[in-house]
Amino acid sequence: MFTRFRRRRLNPILRDLLTETTLSINDFIYPLFVRSGKEVKNEVASMPGVYQMSIDEVVKECGELKSLGIKSIILFGIPDVKDSVGSEALCEHGIIATALREIKAAHPDIFITTDLCFCEYTDHGHCGVLDPVLETVDNDITLKNLGLQAVVHAKAGADMIAPSGMMDGMIIAIREALDEAGFKHIPIMSYSTKFASAYYGPFRDVAESAPSFGDRRSYQMNPANRREAILESLEDEKEGADILMVKPALAYMDIIRDIKEASRLPLAAYNVSGEYSMLKMAAKAGVIDYERVMLETLLGFKRAGADIIITYHAKEAAKLLQS
Ligand code: PBG
Ligand code: ZN
Repeated sequence: MFTRFRRRRLNPILRDLLTETTLSINDFIYPLFVRSGKEVKNEVASMPGVYQMSIDEVVKECGELKSLGIKSIILFGIPDVKDSVGSEALCEHGIIATALREIKAAHPDIFITTDLCFCEYTDHGHCGVLDPVLETVDNDITLKNLGLQAVVHAKAGADMIAPSGMMDGMIIAIREALDEAGFKHIPIMSYSTKFASAYYGPFRDVAESAPSFGDRRSYQMNPANRREAILESLEDEKEGADILMVKPALAYMDIIRDIKEASRLPLAAYNVSGEYSMLKMAAKAGVIDYERVMLETLLGFKRAGADIIITYHAKEAAKLLQS
């Protein structure tokens, strides 16, 4: 037997011609964690190769990213002070607003998305203002604050806003706030289908954003629910989101495909911290060929239906794709 399958796999040039999915440096958004100080670059044990950086280091890093062909970053802030509402995030001189101005001054050609949430800024670590009776996030007060935070980011130079808090109505609230403040042209990439996942563990070490009590299951999604996952993203489309997202990515490839088929909007997959660290630790233990497993994983997200991949692997992948 020798059918068309093996016939088509014999010649490497023909294999290239028949490649259905490709990975490109243009697909990546690289996450960066910014904190106060000078010449601060703290590696975090649970995420080898990922750092908390002061703004001057982030500015340097952006130069390196450009030399690798990476033009797009997403910024997370680690404030010096936290309080019950996360006021630092609403301040024009907060860590993200300051970082935006300095990065844009040095690198106007880097496309900066900002993560929009309050968990890094609240002393309780939840994604908004707490309702004292429900002992979880108050949806509507948080919506108002998300609008204010979005405008702070846009004024400071953000190119795109990415709300990650899973509040009901967040896209409408942020769109209205941006439009009223004169930022009709700033797109919103919604973390539209975000699961309450244990894969965020290492991120919470880097961002110092673990909740001090309880968990996020009253706002993030139940990993068991597929129909609800699709509805969540379609709701954000209706509310005016420009780009949808599935997060995490690796254990949710089916959801990436479902949403790709249910919506015509562009779709991002967030290859989260735990997914990154698993490969790093497996590589350290010598059990996988790290580079090949990484590229295969990223390609899998594309094949599943992702247009954009937010990934801590972006620099390493870019080096391999360049060569
Ligand atoms: C903030 C936020 C989180 C992540 C992105 N934005 C953490 C969380 O929801 O607890 C996780 C990213 C990652 O694990 O890489 N809401
Ligand atoms: Zn949050």
